[in-house]
Amino acid sequence: MRPRSIVILTGAGISAESGLPTFRDKDGLWEGHRVEEVATPEAFACAPELVHRFYNLRRAALATVEPNAAHLALARLQRQHPGKVTLITQNVDDLHERAGSAGVIHMHGELGRVRCTRCDHALAWTGDLGTGTVCPNCGKTGYLRPDIVWFGEMPHHMELIAEALRNADVFAAIGTSGHVYPAAGFVGEARLAGAETVEINNAGTAVSERFHRHLTGPATVEVPRWVDGLIAPGT
Ligand code: OAD
Repeated sequence: MRPRSIVILTGAGISAESGLPTFRDKDGLWEGHRVEEVATPEAFACAPELVHRFYNLRRAALATVEPNAAHLALARLQRQHPGKVTLITQNVDDLHERAGSAGVIHMHGELGRVRCTRCDHALAWTGDLGTGTVCPNCGKTGYLRPDIVWFGEMPHHMELIAEALRNADVFAAIGTSGHVYPAAGFVGEARLAGAETVEINNAGTAVSERFHRHLTGPATVEVPRWVDGLIAPGT
């Protein structure tokens, strides 16, 4: 039998136990704003300082957290599984990379990158960003934005993702609420391709009924256990 192709989608829940807040748990608000109000091109046009502050806080928080057992288990799966493991994340943190994962597909962009809307230059970025920040490429002020996919914008790498889903034998969604498309629809595409689908989450989600299997519990417990079963089935 050919080594199975595994496609994994992660969401904010996988980073929750590292100390990064999810978007929709508890009251789901940041300083009284829903994420949909802050993470839009319209919000950036009307209130750029507010949007910069939202992402500056998140970028700064990255320095205070570490990858957890779930991120590490997925990196181990990539190293030890003889077939292909495609890791797609909606997360804008870099915890998969810091856990040792390679080729992570950041469909919603990355906190650690910024882009100039004037010259389209994109670059790695660790500090704060503001309306007075100068683009190091074109030298103009006020055009740099977080390289994040906002609501109403096209997620990155969709062709690559569609190709992976078409060839998936196993599809897993980990720590994502199923409220945001197109990611919430990946389980349907994987099922059409004949994949076995598994949802790993500490609660039910908007799309739970579309999965064959559910592993319910904290990601740091359920993901390592699932990975162990894939690497050494029957043990
Ligand atoms: P959400 O905050 O919507 O959902 C987090 C999910 O993780 C929920 O289903 C929780 O039950 C689950 N969860 C929380 N803690 C967990 C744990 N310790 N172990 C396992 N599961 C846990 O986050 P996302 O689904 O990632 O987009 O949100 C999708 C997108 O909406 C984000 O990428 C972001 C947001 O707006 C943009 O900013 C464009």
